Amino acid sequence: MTVAIEMGLTTAGAAAAMDLEELLATRLLVQGNSGSGKSHLLRRLLEQSAPWVQQAIIDPEGDFVTLAERFGHLVIEAEDHTERGLQVAGERARLHRVSTVLNLEGLDAENQMRRAAAFLGGLFDVERDHWYPMLVVVDEAQLFAPAVAGEVSDEARKLSLGAMTNLMCRGRKRGLAGIIATQRLAKLAKNVAAEASNFLMGRTFLDIDMARAADLLGMERRQAEAFRDLERGQFMALGPALSRRPLRLNIGPTDTSPRNSTPRLMPMPEAALEDARAVILAAPPPDASRPQRRPAPDLLEQLRAAKAAAPVISAEVVEEPVSAEELAERRERVDRTLRAVLAAPDAGFRAIGVLYQEFVVRCRIEGLGASVPDLGEFRRMLTHARAGLGTEIAEDDAWQEVSLRASILPDDMQGVFMMIARAAKEGWPCPGDAAIARAYGSHSLRRAQRLLGYMEEQGLIVVQLDGGGRRFVTLVELAWATAPGDPHGDDQPAEPIANAASA
Ligand SMILES: Nc1ncnc2c1ncn2[C@@H]1O[C@H](COP(=O)(O)OP(=O)(O)OP(=O)(O)O)[C@@H](O)[C@H]1O
Ligand SMILES: [Mg+2]
Repeated sequence: MTVAIEMGLTTAGAAAAMDLEELLATRLLVQGNSGSGKSHLLRRLLEQSAPWVQQAIIDPEGDFVTLAERFGHLVIEAEDHTERGLQVAGERARLHRVSTVLNLEGLDAENQMRRAAAFLGGLFDVERDHWYPMLVVVDEAQLFAPAVAGEVSDEARKLSLGAMTNLMCRGRKRGLAGIIATQRLAKLAKNVAAEASNFLMGRTFLDIDMARAADLLGMERRQAEAFRDLERGQFMALGPALSRRPLRLNIGPTDTSPRNSTPRLMPMPEAALEDARAVILAAPPPDASRPQRRPAPDLLEQLRAAKAAAPVISAEVVEEPVSAEELAERRERVDRTLRAVLAAPDAGFRAIGVLYQEFVVRCRIEGLGASVPDLGEFRRMLTHARAGLGTEIAEDDAWQEVSLRASILPDDMQGVFMMIARAAKEGWPCPGDAAIARAYGSHSLRRAQRLLGYMEEQGLIVVQLDGGGRRFVTLVELAWATAPGDPHGDDQPAEPIANAASA
C-alpha cells in the first residue's frame, strides 16, 4: 500500500506529495529560520497523516495541543509528571497505539530535556510485539540535540542527546520515524541531523546554516544561496519520500491552527492608563501567592478521602466573639485531640479522610463541635504533627520558609519533606526508608525512595551517600543537612508520629 501525503503544490502548480511508507523508513529533517513556516509544515504533515499512522509530538511551546480537538491526540502536560511517569506513558502510548502530544511548555531547558528524553525512552524501549510504525515529530530539535554544551547539566544533555540519537539512528527498526525541525542547522548535533534522508529546507539567512544545509543535501554552496529567497511557507524538498531532485513547493493550508499564533498588530487602547507608574510599578505580590503547578494529584486517594469525609457535616462558623484565652484554650484542646488520633498504632497508614473523620468525632466528644478545623486546616496540622513540630516551632521564621518550599509539593508529600527538614535542622540522621514510607502513610520502601527522588527533581533537596553507604540529605536553599543515616535502618530518633503522640 502506498499512502501519499499531500503537502501542498510545487511552484509549477503540481500536487506535491510525500510517500508515507518511504518516510517511515527514511526520516525527515526540516530547517528554516524563525517564521519560515516549519511548525505549519509539521502541522500539515500531521493532519494529513493522522488517519494513517500513530503520532507522537514533542512540543516545546505547546503549539500542537490543538490537534487534540480535531484528531483526538492525548495531550500530556509534561510539567505534571515525573520522568519515570513519562517513560511509562511513552510505553503505554505505544502499547495502546494512542497518538500523543507531549507539551513541554513552561519547563526550563533542563527539565524539557529530561522529560522529553524519558518519554522518547519509553517509546523506544517497548517490546518487539508493539513495534508498529509511528511518526515521532520533534519541533525545535536543537533544544533536545544541541550541537554544543549549553547551560544545562551534562546529565540532562546526555539523556536528551542519547534519546534523539536513538530515535534517528536506531528508531527505524522499532517502527519509529523521526521527523525533526530546527531553526538553525548549525545548532543541531551533527549525528542527529545526518540520519535523515529527506529534507525540507525553508528560508535561511545565515551562511553557516546554509553551508551545513548544502553539505547535507550534497549541493554546491552556491546553489544553497537559493534558500535565502524562499518565502514563508515555501520549502525546497529533496529525498526518497519527496523528490529525487530539489523541488520547490508551497505548503498547503491546515485545518487546525496553532494555539500560540503569531501576535498581530492590535490598535492601541484609546484611553491612556491613568497613573501608569503606580499600576505598572506596584510592589510585586509575594512569591507564595504564585504557586507553581503541582504534579497530578492521586485521584484514587482523593476519592477515598472524599468518600470517608462525606458524612461529616461541615463545621459551622463561630459567630459569637471569643477572647484570646478562650481561643488559645480551644486550640490546645484541638491539638490534644489530634495527638490522640495520631497515637493509634496504625495512624500513619490511614488515609487522611479516615483520620479526619475520627478527628471530627473526637472533637465533638470534646465539645469542640463549633470550632473543628476544616479538612485543609487539618491537613496542615497533620503535616506539622507528622514532622514532629509543635505549634511554637511551626511559627519560627525558618520554618515558615520550609513550609513555603514544601508548598510546591503535593499535600501528601509535604509531611515527609517537613520530617526530613526537621532532621536536617536538628542535625539528626536522615530518616530511613521505613520511617519515610510511614510518614507518607505507605508500607512501600520503594515509594519512599521515589519520594526522595521526586523532591530532588523539584530542586528541594540533594540526596547523597557517604563512604559507608549512609544517606544524608541537604536542603537546597536553607543549606541544612541531616547527619548520615542508614537507609535501611529504622531506629530513628526523629520518629515523627511517636514524637507527636507523646509530646
Ligand atoms: N504555508 C503557509 N500558509 C499559510 N500560513 C503559513 C504557512 N506557513 C507558515 N504560515 C504562517 O506563518 C507564521 C509562522 O509560521 P510557523 O509558526 O510555522 O514558523 P516557524 O518556522 O515554526 O517559526 P519558529 O521557528 O519561530 O517556531 C504562522 O502564523 C503560520 O500560520
Ligand atoms: Mg515553530
